[in-house]
Amino acid sequence: MAKIEDQALVIFGASGDLTYRKLMPALFDLFMQDLLPENFAILGVSRTELSDEAFREKMNDGISQFAYFKNNNKDKLASFDQRLHYLSIDTKDAADYGQLKNRLTELDAAHKTGGNYLFYLSTPPSLYGLIPEFLAQQGLNKGKKGFPRLIIEKPFGEDVYSAFNLNKMLQQHFSEEQLYRIDHYLGKETVQNLLVTRFSNGIYEPLWNRNYIQRVEITAAESLGVENRGGYYDHSGALRDMVQNHLLQLVALVAMEPPTEISAAAIRNEKMKVFQSLRPLKEEELFNSVIRGQYLASNVRGRHLLGYREEIEVDPNSRTETFVALKCNIDNWRWGGVPFYIRTGKRMPTRVSEIVIHFRPTPQKLFVSNSDFCNTGNQLVLRIHPDEGILLKTGMKVPGAGFEVKTVNMDFHYKDLQETYVPSAYERLLLDCMMGDATLYTRGDGLEAAWCFVQPILDFWKHNPNAPLYGYPAGTWGPENADKLIEGENQQWRYPCKNLADDGIYCEL
Ligand code: BG6
Repeated sequence: MAKIEDQALVIFGASGDLTYRKLMPALFDLFMQDLLPENFAILGVSRTELSDEAFREKMNDGISQFAYFKNNNKDKLASFDQRLHYLSIDTKDAADYGQLKNRLTELDAAHKTGGNYLFYLSTPPSLYGLIPEFLAQQGLNKGKKGFPRLIIEKPFGEDVYSAFNLNKMLQQHFSEEQLYRIDHYLGKETVQNLLVTRFSNGIYEPLWNRNYIQRVEITAAESLGVENRGGYYDHSGALRDMVQNHLLQLVALVAMEPPTEISAAAIRNEKMKVFQSLRPLKEEELFNSVIRGQYLASNVRGRHLLGYREEIEVDPNSRTETFVALKCNIDNWRWGGVPFYIRTGKRMPTRVSEIVIHFRPTPQKLFVSNSDFCNTGNQLVLRIHPDEGILLKTGMKVPGAGFEVKTVNMDFHYKDLQETYVPSAYERLLLDCMMGDATLYTRGDGLEAAWCFVQPILDFWKHNPNAPLYGYPAGTWGPENADKLIEGENQQWRYPCKNLADDGIYCEL
């Protein structure tokens, strides 16, 4: 692994939930594995008044709940705490940034962090334009060796126009090489493994195209509702919250051409070509091939679940979608004629994210099958979570007389790698940014291209408020209409269960 430069990480929005639940536990786990640079400091910045001590206490609490390596090693925790500092400023006020600069100079002297800064914006998006500008006023946007770097959390805009504007604002003060836009899906081990599955296995690559693949299906289902994020979600909806970013990133990784090398530029160039080849949806497709839904109250396993419109901070007449399923096409030589179906929703029967590659069935049906296998063909399931792993569904002769075929599973589960530690998405992404590796971050042009694909859907819904929004009872797989999206006789979505190798309506959820 490349040597990581000494550096200081500055987290804006340090009193928030993300820092507490994800960032600090991930940093602690990196520390426990000796992956942080020798000279390293963390400065939490936020408006809330806190002393260094109080900040450390709060962070230790988050670490004890959410870090993988528990903090029962008191010496290690104390040594981690020594690197933790806090500064209270009004991040909306340019005048306060002088204090930040002074504090960073002090930390550089105390921790030998060499003036290398990594700024993490874990703030409301309304500050994404201001903070970079105020940092620049203090000269904190200039450095060397790729520093300073700026990490930004989604949402990157709320439509194509604001995304372009945001990129423009950021790029006024920081170069594209300094910008790291987080999509936490790309930090998931199983998502990265997609590249390895595709490009290190001679058996898959020759089949990975329109000649052998009938369709691709991508599901990101959640069993939770909007929880306490109704205020944000009601203005966002599933299309912006999940499709524009996570799901289109998955589409790009499944569909891209082999990169010339494993580098940020090569991989992001190939992903960009996929976005450019996504066929824009036409008016009738916006109506027929994009299905939106909203969950309704229901009793699930003895528990009454509220309908979306009854959730806190949600408009009681809201037409925001909590489910979306759509069909898209990639107009290029590899994928011409192969539909990609994607769906995501809240309050589904279980939490599962996976990619299913449906291979074409054999040209002739020689055998009888009791499971429709001969009509549906092999499936390769790349499970992102839970029960992370890979499953190949293949046909096998039922022992005994005749030639009856049944589907059997060939499966690999990450949990079987007993000795292997699987890092969290934030751990991997933070470490990459510290090393200056942007491969798993979204590039500005890719982000804009993904917005260009979803914008017509947003416009269509905006201008046709009466376009169908289907209700679905909480705890179900979304509106029935989504089932009709899938073309072909006897073709349907896979209905996944918690366990990778199970599917169907009746299984452990
Ligand atoms: C976030 C969305 O980006 O991803 C959330 O804002 C969603 O609404 C979450 O719950 C899903 O992530 P994961 O890793 O649990 O699939």
